[in-house]
Amino acid sequence: MSEFQPKIVVFACNWCSYAGIDLAGSSRLEYPPNLSVVRVMCSSRVSIEMILKALERGADGVLVTGCHPGDCHYITGNYNTLRRYHLLRKMLEDLGLNGRVRLEWISASEGERFAQVAKEFVEEIKKLGPLIIREEVV
Ligand code: FES
Repeated sequence: MSEFQPKIVVFACNWCSYAGIDLAGSSRLEYPPNLSVVRVMCSSRVSIEMILKALERGADGVLVTGCHPGDCHYITGNYNTLRRYHLLRKMLEDLGLNGRVRLEWISASEGERFAQVAKEFVEEIKKLGPLIIREEVV
């Protein structure tokens, strides 16, 4: 039997994280091919609904990335992201979906950090196994 290969959706803010992911690619750093990157203008654009929809529609995990605190191009966007993430974690606990969503700050110069986070997250999701959601959960 072949090894489970999780599907991971990565939301990346345009100004920092997407550039960091791009740097990882252009630097030819190795990271797992399990990721589908969705570029958003700011991490605060990623609503709880968007994350739950990604999980409902087949993602086994969701990685939200944004500028480091203090570096958001919309000043306080990533602080809103952080508050929302804490709320979401409580919701995920109640839904039995612990560990399926992760928030990371990744700057435009942190290609290596992105590759490392991607590897770690894919391994964590592999340990959790495929996500099977019944319709009444979401
Ligand atoms: Fe990157 Fe807001 S612009 S987190």
